Amino acid sequence: MLNKKIENTFNEQINKETYSAYLYQSLSAHAKHIGLNGVANWFQIQVQEEISHAQKLYNYINERGGKVKLQVIEEPPSEFENIQNMFEETLKHEEFITKSINELMDLAMNERDHASQIFLQWFVTEQIEEEDNVNEILNTLKLIGNSGNGLRMFDKELAARVFTPPTV
Ligand code: FEO
Repeated sequence: MLNKKIENTFNEQINKETYSAYLYQSLSAHAKHIGLNGVANWFQIQVQEEISHAQKLYNYINERGGKVKLQVIEEPPSEFENIQNMFEETLKHEEFITKSINELMDLAMNERDHASQIFLQWFVTEQIEEEDNVNEILNTLKLIGNSGNGLRMFDKELAARVFTPPTV
């Protein structure tokens, strides 16, 4: 059985992951609006990933005899300065999520909840990948600079991204 403190914090994490999906949906809409269909696709895959993260938490709370409680989802920003800014916002958000996962892990350790620590390990590893993916994109964008051709090729590359559901 989950203790109340952990249950509440896991429910807050469902909210943060769902907000992540909402933020990426907004970024995808913006990319589509400015004609970057590959970037729009990349963010669409990100939306699906975030929904799967929220679902993982939802399933875990239920499995441990807790109660899922959904909360209000904040309105995400809808205007972004440029493509760099879109991915900088993404990185900033992922760093916030990493911090939140680390705090959840600290709580599970303090509460001596071993099952939650094992469960959260997947998220700790996932966050390394999430931040790395965005950092790589930001580095590529730096190299592209103001090259229209470079941006077109980059957009084409992101169009190939597909969603792979988490296995664990
Ligand atoms: Fe679920 Fe992108 O963190």
